[in-house]
Amino acid sequence: MSQTVSHAWVLKRRPAGRITRDDYDWVEMPLDAPKAGEVLVRTVYLSLDPTNRIWASDMAQYMPPVELGEVMRGGTLGVVEASGDENFAVGDVVQGMWGWRSHALQPAMALNKLPAQPGVPWDAYMSVLGATGMTAYFGLMDIGAPKAGETLVVSAAAGAVGSLVGQIGKIMGCRVIGTAGSDEKCAHLINDLGFDAAINYKTADLGAALDEAAPNGIDIYFENTGGPVTDAVYPRLNLNARIPLCGLIAHYNDEETGEGTPGPKNFQMALMRRALIKGFIVIDYLPRFPEGIAAMAGWLAEGKLQYRTDMVDGLENAVEGVNRLFDGANTGKLLVRCSEAPATP
Ligand SMILES: NC(=O)c1ccc[n+]([C@@H]2O[C@H](COP(=O)([O-])OP(=O)(O)OC[C@H]3O[C@@H](n4cnc5c(N)ncnc54)[C@H](OP(=O)(O)O)[C@@H]3O)[C@@H](O)[C@H]2O)c1
Repeated sequence: MSQTVSHAWVLKRRPAGRITRDDYDWVEMPLDAPKAGEVLVRTVYLSLDPTNRIWASDMAQYMPPVELGEVMRGGTLGVVEASGDENFAVGDVVQGMWGWRSHALQPAMALNKLPAQPGVPWDAYMSVLGATGMTAYFGLMDIGAPKAGETLVVSAAAGAVGSLVGQIGKIMGCRVIGTAGSDEKCAHLINDLGFDAAINYKTADLGAALDEAAPNGIDIYFENTGGPVTDAVYPRLNLNARIPLCGLIAHYNDEETGEGTPGPKNFQMALMRRALIKGFIVIDYLPRFPEGIAAMAGWLAEGKLQYRTDMVDGLENAVEGVNRLFDGANTGKLLVRCSEAPATP
């Protein structure tokens, strides 16, 4: 077998503000044939996530930061090209965390073989049936604990997690309001995803718009952003409201001032309304993933859930791709297509 050369993005320096190409080196890495217990994979999809910005920094976080000189971390789906492990065969489709590289040698233990299922495209495993779907499902169901008739507000609602949260909220019988950064996204939330109302947080008077969309107050706020939406939501919380604290994307590119991330302006309302605020990271729920995947797969099959993939072509465009998340240029789950996906049955 001829030697495989992997192309990879290696972190060169800590970003200041948005990540740029100058923060990374684009390198070639020759790979040996897999030894016993190893598998050579070709990357098909790379997940781009707001947390890429966190991993590239050395702030206190939920995983060790990516070290300088290391391949950038990222969730991946790929195809086995050569195997030194009896559990994996050439052509198997696998999922892992081998990061921003075109090919990788991975310990077999680090890979999860995916089932080929009729009518389920491979990108679904990077979205609705993957970590994104599990974030939406467990964040809303476990922490948000939605009840029929309650009002749910979700920020970054047209994004990967938010679009699923809102749809699950509708399945649970909630009144669902999404905030998003364009009129086009707001129309998508109402017309395609069945949200009851949508607010363009960049142009609306947020307080007045929430008063109109949520006349009975807010029982659940699925927090994806921080910033002005959060400030407008807190005064409108109902007694015993729940706030799954999923993300704070409005602050991930903040300049390091040593003062940390500001809290909500109306934080006292969490006390007055006895709100539950619970931060979570989706990996907390790994042992319960089968339950979440079964629920999401069921709703998908029944046509109750839709998901959308926003595809960047080419691993060489991954750095600019991440910034689509901070520009709000994506609708749905942002992925990089690094090579052609195998056909699905
Ligand atoms: N806790 C966990 O385990 C976990 C797992 C996955 C994701 N997350 C978090 O969940 C959130 C959404 O992640 P995702 O992967 O689904 O990304 P996403 O929503 O698909 O993309 C991010 C979206 O955030 C919005 N945004 C960007 N800058 C903003 C700002 N300054 N203020 C308000 N909105 C802004 C943009 O949409 P607009 O056009 O609406 O601005 C953008 O499309 C992020 O905070 C992420 O860190 C947490």
